[in-house]
Amino acid sequence: MLPNQGSNHSGKKLLLESYGCQMNFSDSEIVASILAKEGYTTTRVPEEADLILLNTCAIRDNAEQRIRSRLEFLRSVKKKRPSMSVGVLGCMAERLREKLLDQEKLVDLVVGPDAYRDLPNLIQQVETGQKAVNVLLSREETYAEITPVRLNTNGVNHFISIMRGCDNMCSFCVVPFTRGRERSRDPESIVAEATDLFNQGFREVTLLGQNVDSYKWKVNETTEDKVSFANLLERVALIHPDLRIRYSTSHPKDMSDEVLEVMASHENICKYIHLPVQSGHDDVLKRMNRGYSREWYLQRIEAIRRYMPDCAISTDVIAGFCGETEEEHQSTVSIMREVGFDMAYMFKYSERPRTLAERKFEDDIPEETKTQRLQEIIDIQMKNAARRTAAHVGKTQKVLIEGFSKRSSEFYQGRNSQNVVAIFPVSTEFGPGDYVEVKMTGATSVTLTGEAVSVVSKRS
Ligand code: SAH
Ligand code: SF4
Ligand code: F3S
Repeated sequence: MLPNQGSNHSGKKLLLESYGCQMNFSDSEIVASILAKEGYTTTRVPEEADLILLNTCAIRDNAEQRIRSRLEFLRSVKKKRPSMSVGVLGCMAERLREKLLDQEKLVDLVVGPDAYRDLPNLIQQVETGQKAVNVLLSREETYAEITPVRLNTNGVNHFISIMRGCDNMCSFCVVPFTRGRERSRDPESIVAEATDLFNQGFREVTLLGQNVDSYKWKVNETTEDKVSFANLLERVALIHPDLRIRYSTSHPKDMSDEVLEVMASHENICKYIHLPVQSGHDDVLKRMNRGYSREWYLQRIEAIRRYMPDCAISTDVIAGFCGETEEEHQSTVSIMREVGFDMAYMFKYSERPRTLAERKFEDDIPEETKTQRLQEIIDIQMKNAARRTAAHVGKTQKVLIEGFSKRSSEFYQGRNSQNVVAIFPVSTEFGPGDYVEVKMTGATSVTLTGEAVSVVSKRS
């Protein structure tokens, strides 16, 4: 439930659904905070909501299809309750703008990612029977001082947005169009939010940005002092040794040795890096406008392993990008083999309107070939993941307990520094938010099983 601070909307119920990446989930907490001030309380039941907001994703066509079918379902709910309003927020709202009002007749409200402060006004407009749209992008908005309302939290780990937007213009990607220009958030507000979370009992924060390595904050106009991502990471790490730090996403062209150094020298910065490769072939990387070569990428992997031999590395891969030849695809296959990623998100290329790739290249790889190539990549990754997970067996590792395992309340689940989930029997000696040493005794393809052998530190 949201705190009801009473206003003209007190007693009204809001259903807020989030799709897409963690940024959207994080933004939804800002939206919930803004609407709590208006008096809204949250519900999970569409049939009792006065206002339904879908915070949407536009990254691939299937992400948008999912939203469209959800809107179809909501149409039937609205038939029975015509007073209910439906709004679309986030990246699909930004991409389609007014079109959403025409295409999806039931939508009353369309609000882009930088316009959430305007929600109270826009809702008022809807209440007077008008449709409302605000999709203005901003160069400054970071919602820095808005304290998010923590939604669906386990009370142990949480996300903090450190920047918004993206300036990279990878040719396949819609994000620069839906999220606007890159801007960093004031480090003071980030450190304050992390400290606050720690004081509330949270023990892990994940710093979020589309390209965290380009985080940059100018301290003030009169000095040249800047806070880099490495500086920020260190400041958050120094809050407390029992606050673990993760972050996402790194960009291979920008990932600096300075960041690796900071990671290596702080035990509480998790040894895990998400470094999307997208393709293993130089020509494809060039068409994708990624700004690095295969060799450069492999050198970054080498640097990670030099600084932190125990660091887990995950990646994103796209199969069947415009003009991808079989030889180019095989380069992706070989880089997957060569690096041996711990984890990977793998996608078929999906053409996005307005992107460079849509304007310059033809989406010419047949669906069947995309499917085959993706499957080949998935098959290798499954083997890599199983091998990487199994390599932890026999070791005793520090695990942060997050709660009961999904399958049984006789087991706890937590993650090691490398982000692998470990399952082990519950005990009265420890609980969620505590750190324990777990002896890893077995592994399924992506999960470890073990037994807690000692308590490292307790939350209370
Ligand atoms: N900022 C991050 C990624 C954000 S999107 C980065 O630079 O890596 C997450 C992933 O979705 C991307 O890494 C890419 O692999 C995938 N993706 C983005 N656009 C896509 C498209 N048009 N088709 C298929 N996959 C796409
Ligand atoms: Fe998209 Fe590239 Fe920006 Fe990632 S870095 S969000 S892939 S444009
Ligand atoms: Fe999707 Fe927007 Fe995130 S397009 S992946 S919700 S930045």
